Amino acid sequence: MILGINIDHIATIREARKGSEPDPLMAATLAMLGGADGITVHLREDRRHINDRDLKGLREMVPIELNLEMAATQEMVGIALSVKPDMVTLVPEKRQELTTEGGLDLITRKDLIAGAIQKIQQAGIPVSLFINPSIIDIDLSKSIGADMVEIHTGHYANAHAKRHQDELIKIKDAAEIAYRNELMVNAGHGLNYFNVKAVAAIDGIRALYIGHSIISRAVLVGMERAVREMKELIGCSRKLTE
Ligand code: PXP
Repeated sequence: MILGINIDHIATIREARKGSEPDPLMAATLAMLGGADGITVHLREDRRHINDRDLKGLREMVPIELNLEMAATQEMVGIALSVKPDMVTLVPEKRQELTTEGGLDLITRKDLIAGAIQKIQQAGIPVSLFINPSIIDIDLSKSIGADMVEIHTGHYANAHAKRHQDELIKIKDAAEIAYRNELMVNAGHGLNYFNVKAVAAIDGIRALYIGHSIISRAVLVGMERAVREMKELIGCSRKLTE
């Protein structure tokens, strides 16, 4: 299982003063030193954190998987085709939301998303769809040609007691069905140092994408250590000398 680090909130801190620090490129370098397998950024329509310049800089300096999260808009598809990340994750985007609130609405937006998938794949870039852990969404993802799905773990992360277990079972079942449908399976959102182990133990998951909890810890203990500790928890720690 690989770990992709979402570094959006490094740019959130920078944008608090509209200055030049902290620098997402430097954060990506330190994340790699800590053992990150991938770097993820979400280029939002309103550019509230990561901007176009960050994305281009990251493309030039990141040798590991660069995952671009984006809405399925014409503007973003154009950017993906010119920057050429290693993969694209299509996500729903609402201007007022604090963070991505749920999976894609594949039922009503199927054609639009299918069109975006086709254009991105024609440029040789694999596409993942951020979806709720639902069988219908897995079937739709397969039918419109996605290469991968990223199962939304936010409801699991926010639930307590029995609901927490119920949400975990939904993720497990969804991962199994997606895997059987020959989709690569990723998971993410709301994962932290306390809740990640149960998700990391699910068979068939290729990658976890984690941002806020790692950046929050990095503020206090440093990026390399925050990444290393997360890698140890998900059981894919790798020594720098290996
Ligand atoms: N995966 C997707 C599709 C996301 O939109 C986000 C948040 O940007 C994440 C993973 C990471 O979520 P978190 O910051 O809660 O770890």
